[in-house]
Amino acid sequence: MQKIFVNKKIELANTLPSEFYTYEKFYNLSKEKIFLKSWQWIDSNEINNKNKIIIPINILEDLINEPVILLKDNNNIKCYSNVCTHRGNILVEKECKLKKIVCNYHGRRFNLNGEFEFMPEFESVKNFPSSNDNLKNLPLINWYGLFFVGINPHFELSPILKQIEKRISFLALNELKINNDLSRDYFVNSHWAIYCDNFLEGFHVPYVHKGLNEVLDYNNYKTEIYKNFNLQIGFSKNKDQCFQFPKNHRDYGKKIAAFYYWIFPNIMLNIYPWGISLNVVCPINKSKTKVLFRSYVLDNSKLNNGASEDLNEVELEDENIVENVQKGINSSFYNSGRFSVEREKGVHHFHCLISQFINLK
Ligand code: FES
Ligand SMILES: [Fe+2]
Repeated sequence: MQKIFVNKKIELANTLPSEFYTYEKFYNLSKEKIFLKSWQWIDSNEINNKNKIIIPINILEDLINEPVILLKDNNNIKCYSNVCTHRGNILVEKECKLKKIVCNYHGRRFNLNGEFEFMPEFESVKNFPSSNDNLKNLPLINWYGLFFVGINPHFELSPILKQIEKRISFLALNELKINNDLSRDYFVNSHWAIYCDNFLEGFHVPYVHKGLNEVLDYNNYKTEIYKNFNLQIGFSKNKDQCFQFPKNHRDYGKKIAAFYYWIFPNIMLNIYPWGISLNVVCPINKSKTKVLFRSYVLDNSKLNNGASEDLNEVELEDENIVENVQKGINSSFYNSGRFSVEREKGVHHFHCLISQFINLK
């Protein structure tokens, strides 16, 4: 089996070999080396409106399926493993009011800090309890009501979110509110990374998105690479559909319609004048992917305008091309291609990160 190697110099590099997308072995390795070592968004919008509750959540249920609980006590929200440290029973099966956490198998009890508190019939057990009997506490980040949890993260998420925040803090981020009517799940017949590849370049916009191409200024389209994340900037032909930057902002005077942020490996934060469209790419199997679209709105009056006028139409255009690539990548005549230095910096960045993570010891 081929080893995954991507040259860091884009002008010399080849794209990922097709085996990465087609071999079960690489799909399984991605789970272990990429997804288990990253940060994942968790769907927990209801927690923002409630208090003193425990919510069970399975992180990336079709791939990792890690059972955790979110526990909210006043404004303090924490995340713990939802697996009993005795014999592995699931502790909390449905949302409930905050009290002690008691396992319904043999009665082990934990306090709300995840610490072991009591276990019947264990008087004769030596060296017990130990820290292994507490529930594992997972790092949790609450970013303007969006929750991200680190399973066994290989990098920090906070500095990434801080950098994003710095660029977009002129927006009233504290007012972001989920809009369920504008949120939905898409199912795509492709490998998760083919979906990400497509997101990471604007190269295809004139070919695939005729409508969006009317709005975006293709010649000014820009990609900025950062550590474990990147940003594509969609410049606009029309001034009305752009961000209104304050005078001291680094982008003041520029006609920008959208900031497309991507955080390795599967989180997209598309920033528009009306708010944020969060996309999370969730692998189901090596040729099927679920993509969650969640809209967080801060200014309703700016919806349905500019680069986000018809997100659904753009998504269907993307799905169509991505599903075609899924068919092509299985061909015995295709192994890998080359990158446009001008237009595919984001895809190259992604492929470099994949090769870096998949080769982690
Ligand atoms: S598995 Fe929880 S008490 Fe036994
Ligand atoms: Fe696209």
